Amino acid sequence: MSTTSTNIAGIRLEKYALNASGPDCTTLEELEKIGNSDCAAIMMKSCTLEPREGNPEPRYQRLDFGAIQAMGLPNLGYKEYIKFVSELKKYNKPVIASLSGMCMADNLQMVKEFQDTDVDIIEVNFSCPNIIGKPQLGYDFEQTDTVLGKICEINDKVIGVKLPPYFDFSHFDSVAEIMLRHNVQFVSCINSLGNTMIIDPETESPIIKPKGGYGGLSGEYVKPVGLSNVRAFYERFEGKIQIFGVGGIVTGTDAFEYLLAGADAVQIATTFEKEGADCFTRIDNELKAIMGRKGYASIDEVKGKLKAL
Ligand code: SIN
Repeated sequence: MSTTSTNIAGIRLEKYALNASGPDCTTLEELEKIGNSDCAAIMMKSCTLEPREGNPEPRYQRLDFGAIQAMGLPNLGYKEYIKFVSELKKYNKPVIASLSGMCMADNLQMVKEFQDTDVDIIEVNFSCPNIIGKPQLGYDFEQTDTVLGKICEINDKVIGVKLPPYFDFSHFDSVAEIMLRHNVQFVSCINSLGNTMIIDPETESPIIKPKGGYGGLSGEYVKPVGLSNVRAFYERFEGKIQIFGVGGIVTGTDAFEYLLAGADAVQIATTFEKEGADCFTRIDNELKAIMGRKGYASIDEVKGKLKAL
């Protein structure tokens, strides 16, 4: 029987798949549903210093092969998520805080205040494409370097960065160099493909309202980008930094492909939003079946072992 247990910086995950910071992980009730499921950890919604309503509706639309959204980080404010940590620890799985400050000072304050909690992992989100007037930090390498340097100075937790998708080898090189220099324990790649647009020819309008219709694309459409980003960072990290693969995981086969590319674990947003928390059981069973069929007993036997053509 194959096992899908894995770890991030020594923190054990009983299974390979968890939710991504995205849909249905904002309120305590939603997070408790994740706690009660086969999700490998409980990832909380990316939080800001102050609570946010997010962008105007409609801001999330399902598509045939994914979704487009410009949520705008609706969240309860980091103080609520600090309170949730102790409630969520009773589910006996790692609890992950996702922080998405509006500026460096906000990020520093939140990282500092999560230090005194039992949160297991901190993911700093440098890649939300949906905040009006705010560029994605992960596309500004100088700022990424500066902010990450300051964060790492005050952090003693397992910490990593959620990255936007990159499309050029020079960008993989630059970002990998920054991540390695600051010694982060993991990256999560990719966030949605920012500022895409879907137009309805009947209404002659975009299908989401915020930002004049620009939004992050996710789901099956983006899996090839997620796989290439995981692979590119896996090749550059040489085992020094771990990787959460994110983007278009619908089946156990998709998770297996991320495993071949080098992902230590995967995060799931769009499929979780469509199917609910049962998707974690189904995907884990499917992943175990494909590993078993191919004679692999553990995640480590497959991780990164993409074969050259
Ligand atoms: C959002 O709330 O706008 C989505 C989160 C993200 O893209 O990081």
